Amino acid sequence: MVARINTVAFQGIEVKPVDVQVQISGGLPAFNIVGLPDKAVAESKERVRAALHALGLSLPPKRLTVNMAPADLSKEGSHFDLPIALGVLGAMEILPKEELAEYVVLGELSLDASIRPVSGVLPTAVHANENALKLICPQDCGGEAAWAGDIDILAPRDLLQLINHIKGSQVLSRPEARLRSEGDAPLPDLSAVKGQESAKRALEIAAAGGHNLLMCGPPGSGKSMLAACLPGILPPLSAAEALEVSMIHSLAGALPDGGLLHRRPFRNPHHSASQPAMVGGGHRVKPGEISLAHHGVLFLDELPEFARATLEALRQPLETGDTLVARANAHIRYPARFQLIAAMNPCRCGYLGDPGRECTKAPRCGADYQARISGPLLDRIDLQVDVMPVRIEDLHGGAAGERSDVVAERVAAARDVQASRYQALGMQGSALVNARADGAILEAAALMEPEARDLLGRAAAQAKLSARGYFRVLRVARTIADLAGGAEVISVAAVAEALGYRRVLAA
Ligand SMILES: Nc1ncnc2c1ncn2[C@@H]1O[C@H](COP(=O)(O)OP(=O)(O)O)[C@@H](O)[C@H]1O
Ligand SMILES: [Mg+2]
Repeated sequence: MVARINTVAFQGIEVKPVDVQVQISGGLPAFNIVGLPDKAVAESKERVRAALHALGLSLPPKRLTVNMAPADLSKEGSHFDLPIALGVLGAMEILPKEELAEYVVLGELSLDASIRPVSGVLPTAVHANENALKLICPQDCGGEAAWAGDIDILAPRDLLQLINHIKGSQVLSRPEARLRSEGDAPLPDLSAVKGQESAKRALEIAAAGGHNLLMCGPPGSGKSMLAACLPGILPPLSAAEALEVSMIHSLAGALPDGGLLHRRPFRNPHHSASQPAMVGGGHRVKPGEISLAHHGVLFLDELPEFARATLEALRQPLETGDTLVARANAHIRYPARFQLIAAMNPCRCGYLGDPGRECTKAPRCGADYQARISGPLLDRIDLQVDVMPVRIEDLHGGAAGERSDVVAERVAAARDVQASRYQALGMQGSALVNARADGAILEAAALMEPEARDLLGRAAAQAKLSARGYFRVLRVARTIADLAGGAEVISVAAVAEALGYRRVLAA
């Protein structure tokens, strides 16, 4: 009398099938769960017992063994309650075992037998679809599961509804696919930012070429405001990207009302964020902020205030577009292709370089403050700009700036130019932007007119640019040319402008 239920365990964004086997045998009454369960899974038996009790069912006074195979895969999380409960009902011959075997099941049980939302429903639904199985998930997660395609989904509110459906006395309808309603709040618009023309230009270039951007300027100059405008000028997520991003958010339990994300994520973790919170990991491995920002924007405000180790941990993901969390028994990979926007004050008090307000320790204080950011990290930030204080004339009755949707059109056009170029050059992936071009591909993509080449050569020699620094300028120049219509050969004007976005931190 063994009942088997399909469920899953998560390793990074990978979904691993787990087979829950429930056996009732003679012997002293007992209820054991084996197969590398963590604490939440071990506690599952109390919830299952209570939920069945709430329906007026009691466990048989026999030996009940739950095995979760494969035994060497660690089982984390609370979504095993429902598969265990259904396995028990199958083994007790209350529900037909053959029918239960057609489903992948996940859900957490309350003591009153209602089914609570869990994380990871969307990737599980995709997994069920690939394996031609049906899905049982909590009601609140149904809207998320329905995106996975044309599969049968049961999203019951409680265990009783589910039992009634399987027994045929009540019919559950398929949940509707939902978009996340949070997306309806309007995004901050660039037209609200007065003045700051050069910072806005840098933001537009960053959006067009997918470049990382560092803004340095005194407090209250609008750096945070500018950064918040970025999602509004980036092109919308493609359907495939939206699914990918939503899967990560689903795993992190960050799709609370069960809808798909349709906007580029904008994450701004506080500078007290720990390294696991930033890159992923922790007791139960979860995606970190950089993975939640996948295909979107990671905004680090007050960059030098972040812990050094946290910042250094960003270097590898910035290069590879993913992050690897090493555990004792597995390496867990999360995608993390994000665009980094960082903001900082030039020194601790913030007014370095402002003759009326800088402190007595200037410029030493600024050098110390800025030295907290390592060279290798700065090397990965293509655009570095100074943001000046807003001019009072601009603030006071200054003309409204360009709206975000106008800028977004130029950005989209520049991205189209890049996509067709890099497709022709054989670059892989979904975001084909200049920021990702390197080595031979960049050389082929960034042809310069002779004067432009001379200018870059001279500037590089004078400023003792590293190879990375040289290519950074080249990539930005390529984007500037793409924004101006996408001429194949980069002009001297574009190179000259690009050289201006190379702020050398610390005097
Ligand atoms: N260029 C600007 N145009 C309009 N308002 C601004 C501008 N810069 C700053 N502000 C106002 O000042 C506030 C603080 O700006 P913020 O972006 O937080 O500055 P920072 O991050 O540089 O310290 C904003 O909420 C906004 O009201
Ligand atoms: Mg700020």
